[in-house]
Amino acid sequence: MVRKATATLWSEQDRRHPGDRKRLFTAVSNAIDAERVLYPGSFVDISPSFIFDSAVYVDTDKRAAKFFADDAGIREIIAEDEDAPDDPDVTFIHADYTSDLDLPDEDVDLLVSLYAGFVSDHCTDHLRVGGTLLVNGSHGDAALASIDPRYDFTAVVLARAGEYRVSTANLDTYLVPKKSLDITADGIKASGRGITYRVPAFAYLFTRTE
Ligand SMILES: C[S@@+](CC[C@H](N)C(=O)[O-])C[C@H]1O[C@@H](n2cnc3c(N)ncnc32)[C@H](O)[C@@H]1O
Repeated sequence: MVRKATATLWSEQDRRHPGDRKRLFTAVSNAIDAERVLYPGSFVDISPSFIFDSAVYVDTDKRAAKFFADDAGIREIIAEDEDAPDDPDVTFIHADYTSDLDLPDEDVDLLVSLYAGFVSDHCTDHLRVGGTLLVNGSHGDAALASIDPRYDFTAVVLARAGEYRVSTANLDTYLVPKKSLDITADGIKASGRGITYRVPAFAYLFTRTE
C-alpha cells in the first residue's frame, strides 16, 4: 500500500509526469481563454496550477485528499515551476463528482476530463457557456461529449514525442468510429470504455454552447 505523508514526497512519476502534463495544459491554455479550471478525478495531478490562476480538484481517493491537505507542500511544488502563477487558488474537494459539489453553476472556463469516467455528464453545469471541455477518449467521456447537445467539437489535442499541439484542421476526420455503430449515451455508459476511432487524437476540446 502506498503511504505518503506530504505532497512533496510524491515523485514526479507518482504525480503523473507533471512536466508532461504541464506541456499539455500549456498547449490548451494557449488555444483558449481560461483562468478558472475544474478537474474532477484529478488524483494528484496538480499541473493545471502551473498554468492557471485558479483550479478546483475533486477526487474520492484518500491519497489525493492527503496530498492536497499539505498546503505548504503544494505551494512548494508550484513555486518550483518558474512559469507558474505567483499565488494560484488551489482547492481540493474530497468527494464523488457525481454528487453535489456545492460549486456555482457556470463558474469555470475549463473542465478537465482525463481518465476519470463521465465527468462531462456530471459536471458540465459548472462550466460557463463558451467555456471548454478538455476530454480524452478513455472511459467514453469524449464519445459522450460528442453527442451532447450542450457541446460543439472545436479542436483536437495532438501528442507527439511528449509535445502537444492544439489543431482545428480536418476536424471531420476525428471522432469517427472505426466500426460502424449506433452511438448512444446509454450504450457508452454501459460499456464504460472509449470508442475506437479511425483517427485518434490524444484529447478533444469541446465548447459549451448552451
Ligand atoms: C486513472 S486516475 C486519473 C487521474 C488523473 N485524471 C490523471 O489523468 O492523471 C482516475 C481518478 O479518478 C478518480 N475518480 C473516478 N471516479 C470518480 C468520481 N466519481 N468522483 C471522484 N473521483 C473519481 C479516482 O479516484 C482516480 O483518482
